[in-house]
Amino acid sequence: MTLPKQVEIIEVGPRDGLQNEPNILSTQLRVELIERLAKAGIQKIEAGSFVSPKWVPQMAGTDLVLDKLNASSVKQQSGAKYAALTPNLKGLEGAIKHGADEVAIFSAASESFTQKNINCSIEESLQRFDTIMAQAKKVNMPVRGYVSTVIGCPYEGDIAPKKVAQVASYLYEMGCYEISLGDTIGVGTPLKFKNMLNEVMKKVPCHKLAVHCHNTYGQALTNIYASLELGINKIDSSVAGLGGCPYAKGASGNIATEDVLFMLNGMDITTNINLDEVINIGHWICKALNRENQSKVGAAY
Ligand code: HMG
Ligand code: MG
Repeated sequence: MTLPKQVEIIEVGPRDGLQNEPNILSTQLRVELIERLAKAGIQKIEAGSFVSPKWVPQMAGTDLVLDKLNASSVKQQSGAKYAALTPNLKGLEGAIKHGADEVAIFSAASESFTQKNINCSIEESLQRFDTIMAQAKKVNMPVRGYVSTVIGCPYEGDIAPKKVAQVASYLYEMGCYEISLGDTIGVGTPLKFKNMLNEVMKKVPCHKLAVHCHNTYGQALTNIYASLELGINKIDSSVAGLGGCPYAKGASGNIATEDVLFMLNGMDITTNINLDEVINIGHWICKALNRENQSKVGAAY
C-alpha cells in the first residue's frame, strides 16, 4: 500500500454547501467566500450552478458571482479555477457566457434519485450530456462528471457497484476529464467504498477519479482514507461541512475541508493549502449563515 504524496482538494462548499442552506447568501458574500478560499491556496472551487432557480433558489445569481470573480485580481493572483454545475445546454451556455473555467455534469447510479434531482432517467441524462459534451468540446471547456448515490440511495437503498462503474465509464468515455464519485447520503463504510472503487477502476483509471463524501453518519474521513489506500488523490470537500443535497432528504454536508486537511497534514500528504486560514473562513461563513460549524477541527480551535 502506497499513499499518495500529494492530494488535490476540490472545494465544493460554495456550490454543494450553499445550495442546501436555508439562508441564501448575497452575491457579494458568495464571491468573498470563494476568493478567501482561493487565497488560502485552494486551486479548484465549485463557484455555483446554472440550474433552475425554481429548483435550487440558493444558486440563482451564479452568473453574477462568476462575473465578479472574473473581474477581480484574486483569480490571477491565486491561479484558482472556478467550476459550475450544468445539467443541460441552457446551463452550459450560461457557464460559457459568464466565464466558468470548467463545468460539471451530474447523473447518478440510481434511477429514482436521478428523477428527483434532474427530472429525467439516467439514460436521458446521459443523452443530454452527450449534447453538452459536444458543445463544450467546441469551446475547449473541460467537463467533470459526477455519479451520485454510489453506495446507497435514499429511495432505492443499496446500489450495486457494477451500476456505478457503468455510469462512471459512460461519462469517462464521452470525454469527462475526471469522474467524481458521490456518496450523496453518506451511507458508505470503508469496505463498501473499496468494493465500489475496485469495480469502477476496472473501467476508469484511478488517476481520473475523485471521491465526494457526505458525512451524514460520520464515515467520510474513513472512506476517504480507504480511497487514499487505493491510490485516489482527488478529494471533494466543503468548508465547515456546509450543505447537503436538496433532493436527498436527511443528507448532511460534505466532509469539512478543514478535517480533510488536518488528516492529510498529519500523514505528510501535501495540499499546499493553509489550514489555519480555512478554519478562519469556516467560522466566518458559519456566522454569516447563522449555522453550526460541522468541522471537528474548526470546533477544537
Ligand atoms: P425541468 O423542469 O425538467 O426542465 O428541470 P425544463 O427544461 O422543463 O425547465 C423548467 C424551468 O427551468 C424553465 O423555466 C427553464 O427555463 C428553467 P420556466 O419556463 O418554468 O420559467 N431552466 C433553467 N433555468 C436556469 N438554468 C438552467 C435551466 N434549465 C431549465 N440550466 C432541471 C430540469 C435540470 C433544470 C432541474 O431539474 C434542475 O434545475 N435541477 C437542479 C438539480 C440540482 O441542482 N441538484 C443539486 C446538485 S446535484 C448534487 O448536489 C449531487 C452532487 O453534489 C454529488 C453528490 O453529492 O452525490 C453533485
Ligand atoms: Mg454532493
